[in-house]
Amino acid sequence: MALAASGGYFAFGIRRIEIFQIGLRKPNYKPPLSRAKKIPRTDTGYRVTDGNIAAIDFGTTSVSLAYTTKGDDEITNLRLDEEDQAYRVPNAVLLKKEGRTITVQAFGNDARTQFTQMRKSGEYIYFERIKMLMKREENVDRNMLVESFSGEKFYLVEVIAFILKYLKNELMKKFSETARPLKTTDFDWVITVPAIWNARGKRMMREAAYLAGLMTGYDGISSFTSAALSVPREINPDRLSLALEPEAAALYSQEKVGDQIDVDPATAVIKRPSDYMVIDAGGGTIDITAQIEVDGNIIVENIPTGNAWGGTKINEAFSQLLQHIVGDSEFKSFLKPEQKSQCKATLNKILYVDFEKQKVLLGNQKSTEVAVALPAMFVRHYKEALTKVAKKENGVEYDEYTNDTLYIEKEVAESRFFGPAIKGIIDCTLKAIEENGYKVRTFYLVGGFGGCKYVHKKVKAAIEKAYSSKGCSCDVIVPLSPQLAVAQGAVMWRKNPEKIKARRSDATYGINVSIPFDDDEHDEYYKFYNEEQKQDKCDYVFSVFLEKGELVQADQVITISLTPAYQSSKQITIGIYSTPNLGVRYIIDTNGKSTVTKIGQLVIDIPNPDDVPRNERHVDVTMDFSGTEIQAKAKYRITGEEVKTVCDFLSAQ
Ligand SMILES: Nc1ncnc2c1ncn2[C@@H]1O[C@H](COP(=O)(O)OP(=O)(O)OP(=O)(O)O)[C@@H](O)[C@H]1O
Ligand SMILES: [Mg+2]
Repeated sequence: MALAASGGYFAFGIRRIEIFQIGLRKPNYKPPLSRAKKIPRTDTGYRVTDGNIAAIDFGTTSVSLAYTTKGDDEITNLRLDEEDQAYRVPNAVLLKKEGRTITVQAFGNDARTQFTQMRKSGEYIYFERIKMLMKREENVDRNMLVESFSGEKFYLVEVIAFILKYLKNELMKKFSETARPLKTTDFDWVITVPAIWNARGKRMMREAAYLAGLMTGYDGISSFTSAALSVPREINPDRLSLALEPEAAALYSQEKVGDQIDVDPATAVIKRPSDYMVIDAGGGTIDITAQIEVDGNIIVENIPTGNAWGGTKINEAFSQLLQHIVGDSEFKSFLKPEQKSQCKATLNKILYVDFEKQKVLLGNQKSTEVAVALPAMFVRHYKEALTKVAKKENGVEYDEYTNDTLYIEKEVAESRFFGPAIKGIIDCTLKAIEENGYKVRTFYLVGGFGGCKYVHKKVKAAIEKAYSSKGCSCDVIVPLSPQLAVAQGAVMWRKNPEKIKARRSDATYGINVSIPFDDDEHDEYYKFYNEEQKQDKCDYVFSVFLEKGELVQADQVITISLTPAYQSSKQITIGIYSTPNLGVRYIIDTNGKSTVTKIGQLVIDIPNPDDVPRNERHVDVTMDFSGTEIQAKAKYRITGEEVKTVCDFLSAQ
């Protein structure tokens, strides 16, 4: 199939895909003053796998692990809870301190139950839903802290590392029992991340994997660090890749629909579509992607979009109502410092265990009201307020005589709790549909929240309404086991990542250069005189690698050649910048304020013992934006020295 780009289009089988999303450019848009070149890639993007792949879906509320081994066609989910026979378990971890040494005492439901029943947390440290801290808009950095339920603070990256290490050990336990034991280093590992995350969140997961020893024979993290963290040792970096959650779910959904068609075309829901959109509605994130599949190859057609209206918002809405009923914002009076961890555990049980069960029943349309039995400790503290206020709330009742249970009518729960979150999903879905120009006719709704019947009903109705207003129809499908779609799809993706031929850039990326000053083109503010070169130059020019929305082909890399500003320069530092905007021409405005954000840097030594003239001392910068993580390198032609980015996106800037 032809995969060459010609003019403003990319030929994809019989399709022609626009390279730029012109629609994103505002009317006053001006093209960049400098643009990098695209050249064919010479190395492979991903390590070729031996066939042993393990993928971890590290979700906000839950975690699962899927794997396959060499010669095995099947993808298997690892059972993470023997008692419940569950493949997907809560993202909850109970750690135990013994001196400085930390071990994982329990994970999932087990961790939660043990912690909730503890009279004193003492040497135990408990965390739940820690991925919530890593929203796209949060500028995470390596030294970001997370507070345990008892109020102690630890590095978030290290807590994630303990969880990854636990999951690695669980998989290894399974393989140690087999006739042909497999080791950690026999696997290619995948960790899934929301597509809407920026480079920092992704980098955090990668660094956590290094600390966990995921790609080495080492045991991995065994204690918390108290000093500031530095870049971890990167061993076997190519043994880990990050998969984008909705992309993985898309591959899974296509495969499931495909399987169904192969088995029984007559009863299949639809034909295997060539254009489809996936809405991954999880606990913390709504993450949307649209793909085009032609002859088994894929183009990711939209810029990742989504928001934070995941299922956890429903628990938060219930929490708000409860705070209102007891008249205590944030349950401040209940959370006594001397009993903080026990009180937090009690609240957590109400909101994320007892209410959670009711929410799932309601979501699956199996109940007619929400009934949450309140624990004695909570009732004792708020008895008076509970009886008084609950009576005044429409659709809310509190039974103080028989079972201390709070009842909420179905209609109230649906509109107050589910309503805003479903609106959140619908808003960003309709926006993605507009941007896609209604080309997509098939929607896959995945994730635990997406798989919920009530959400499916509402989201389906909203999408169908939008399509029928255009005089067309569409299908909104929940594939089998929608909560396992991400982990399974991530294994499918890792088997053949080259299948994805292009993605759209989520932001505008570039570097800072100075170029000869042009009176007609450049703003006086940026003019300076370079003594050595004896010419006026224009500083702070944003040399653009990629514009937001631009199609990034997997078989291309982006390159620019720089020379030092002065003959005496012995080192060159290249900052890498990004902006969500288009048409940015300089990295600062005429008030000296940054117009872009620095996301990383390359530092390269450029010695010059033979006194080669300045303009022959080329440093070639190559950047690869086509994968799931940004890779950058710089090479000094004279010495042949090359630096890859430490891709140090995580150091505070
Ligand atoms: N039947 C149901 N009704 C309502 N909500 C449900 C139902 N089943 C699952 N959920 C919700 O779905 C969410 C979990 O979905 P999922 O496991 O896909 O999230 P996650 O992967 O942990 O989070 P994220 O992808 O955002 O990081 C939880 O908030 C859970 O309460
Ligand atoms: Mg998820």
